[in-house]
Amino acid sequence: MRKYNVAVIGVGAVGEEMLRVLRQRDFPVDQLKVFARSARTVVVDGQSYQVETLNENSFKGMDIALFAGTEGDKGAAVTYAPHAIKAGCVVIDNGADFRMRPDVPLVVPEANAADVKKHKGIIANPNCSTVQMVVALAPIKKKAGLKRIIVSTYQAVSGSGRGGVVQTEEEFRAWASQSGKDVPKHMDQRIAFNVFPHIGSFDDEGYTSEEMKLVNETHKILHDNKIKISATVVRVPVKTGHSEAVYIETAKPISPEKVRALLRKSPGICVIDDPKNKLYPMPVDVEGKDETFVGRIRRDPAVKNGLWLWVVADNLRKGAATNAVQIAEELIRQELV
Ligand SMILES: NC(=O)c1ccc[n+]([C@@H]2O[C@H](COP(=O)([O-])OP(=O)(O)OC[C@H]3O[C@@H](n4cnc5c(N)ncnc54)[C@H](OP(=O)(O)O)[C@@H]3O)[C@@H](O)[C@H]2O)c1
Repeated sequence: MRKYNVAVIGVGAVGEEMLRVLRQRDFPVDQLKVFARSARTVVVDGQSYQVETLNENSFKGMDIALFAGTEGDKGAAVTYAPHAIKAGCVVIDNGADFRMRPDVPLVVPEANAADVKKHKGIIANPNCSTVQMVVALAPIKKKAGLKRIIVSTYQAVSGSGRGGVVQTEEEFRAWASQSGKDVPKHMDQRIAFNVFPHIGSFDDEGYTSEEMKLVNETHKILHDNKIKISATVVRVPVKTGHSEAVYIETAKPISPEKVRALLRKSPGICVIDDPKNKLYPMPVDVEGKDETFVGRIRRDPAVKNGLWLWVVADNLRKGAATNAVQIAEELIRQELV
């Protein structure tokens, strides 16, 4: 079997998980190079990785570049993805910079694996909260159509990067020791014993950029701009694992029993739905897992074809690293790299 030279850019919350996922999935790696802003050695699961400082020439001889750096104009992907493409790499980017560009496929393999073949050098990984919602809804859309989605998220602090985890731990530590220490804020608000409805920046309608990602990215992945989608995103003091209360209206009637049966046989989904026996998905149980977990599937008695689902996944794995590596596997499967 052919092996590939792989570059991982960034060794923060997602980059570290990327190294773990590549190993755990036995990805056919020939040469692995790891880049960040500063050179050092990092150890993941007992395995040492030499981290080099990223520069324009870092991609020579590489086949696949998995970007997990910072976003924005001066971020890793905007600055260095063009150099990676010039060197012959296929770029898979975790950030938001390229996701909505018409020439960049936005891929969740369980929903739109065929889109990878449209790539012109870059494939984008969707936002973590979008990935898990789309995994759960794609089979339902195929079977019964989707007219409406209303989603409220309960997003873990690792979703804001390693700095979010550090802030949370320090706030709880300061509370436990009663030190009165003022903890610097990586996120917009205090998170210990708190939740806040603010991830990203607000637009003039009052929605955050994270909320609009759920709308626009879902339309793009499901190839359907007609689905009416509205979102409220909330940061909660959970380390890893995003939860979502997802309300849908399907075009055709489908019972909760049929949804359960359908999702049970759909790829990448694990149904845990026995609430009377206290069985439903929770972030503490999904950390380190690759599936999207679905439970609390129930009918809305007031609205025709209305259903509720509770959807939980590890934001660093299926929401980021695992999905990116699955896209790379899809490139290999479709002989596109
Ligand atoms: N966290 C999540 O749940 C999640 C989910 C989906 C997508 N994402 C996206 O994934 C990306 C990474 O997120 P994260 O949570 O892992 O962030 P993070 O913990 O803050 O880590 C960022 C990493 O990127 C490196 N980096 C930043 N700028 C760079 C540059 N110009 N050149 C090379 N390396 C650079 C940093 O290097 P140093 O270590 O040397 O500073 C660091 O290792 C972001 O675009 C984020 O939006 C995150």
